Amino acid sequence: MKVTSKVDDLKRIIKESSLTPVGLVPTMGALHEGHLSLVSSAIASSSLVVVSIYVNPTQFNDKEDFSRYPRTTEADLDLLGKLLRETDVVFMPTDEEMYPERDERRFDFGNLEKVMEGPLRPGHFNGVGQIVSKLFLQVEPDIAFFGQKDFQQVAVIKNLVKQMNSDIKIVPCPIVREPDGLAMSSRNRLLVPDIREAAPAIFKTLSEIPIMFKKREIREIKQFVSEAIDSTKKLEVEYFEIVDDTELEPLTQNADIKNSRKYFGCVAVKAGKIRLIDNIAMG
Ligand code: PAJ
Repeated sequence: MKVTSKVDDLKRIIKESSLTPVGLVPTMGALHEGHLSLVSSAIASSSLVVVSIYVNPTQFNDKEDFSRYPRTTEADLDLLGKLLRETDVVFMPTDEEMYPERDERRFDFGNLEKVMEGPLRPGHFNGVGQIVSKLFLQVEPDIAFFGQKDFQQVAVIKNLVKQMNSDIKIVPCPIVREPDGLAMSSRNRLLVPDIREAAPAIFKTLSEIPIMFKKREIREIKQFVSEAIDSTKKLEVEYFEIVDDTELEPLTQNADIKNSRKYFGCVAVKAGKIRLIDNIAMG
């Protein structure tokens, strides 16, 4: 694989390879099996794969979260070295390279940024829009791979592609979990032992939702999720919403369920100083 930190190099390598389709996997590093599953999907369907590793400052609304975000460059490159082909590229830009000037762009993702993570992380999706749009312009991929773990992010990125009049194909990839069910996340390594021990309760609880859906009232399901997760005493639910995967409109009553839509139960949990998110399809 080739490794570069320069936008110019990146563009030159892609152009000179003249391989298509080009697949892009944007990441913030501290790579785990979840990221690697995206890379494997990219390799399976793209002749040239670009994996970016960049902890994007503009999407962190919490300074502490940014400063403690794990940075494991050597280990990341080792993992990618085992998967990527000779012609594939790892792009690890510096801040100066990514933001030669302050990015003043303000995206409007409408309702997609008004629910769930949106109000709790002001500016987060704008930062995601800034960095991902830059990567799209630099790499000009045919296909880009994103994890369903960040369910709301996938909806935002699909909207971003429309706003950019782009025809990049967005491929959502399934959530990869630890053996005990916890969704893999770079932040999991920051969990203290007793909280890490309690964390499987999140997926265990979510797993019970699909059979309750349509049979029990939304209000009851929400109460069930909060009680089950909060009863661990180590975890606290910030929100649980059942939303459709296009408008992300939170359901408040069963009468609003539309058979033509796909619904997902989405949860955010405070786990000590760390926030964890997860979701499950309603079947
Ligand atoms: P990051 O959290 O590093 O995640 C990079 C990609 O890996 C995202 O698409 C995310 O949804 C996916 N991912 C993370 N954990 C996963 C899991 N357990 N299973 C499947 N996929 C998983 O998301 C970001 O970075 C950033 O916001 C980024 C898009 C790179 C923009 O900075």
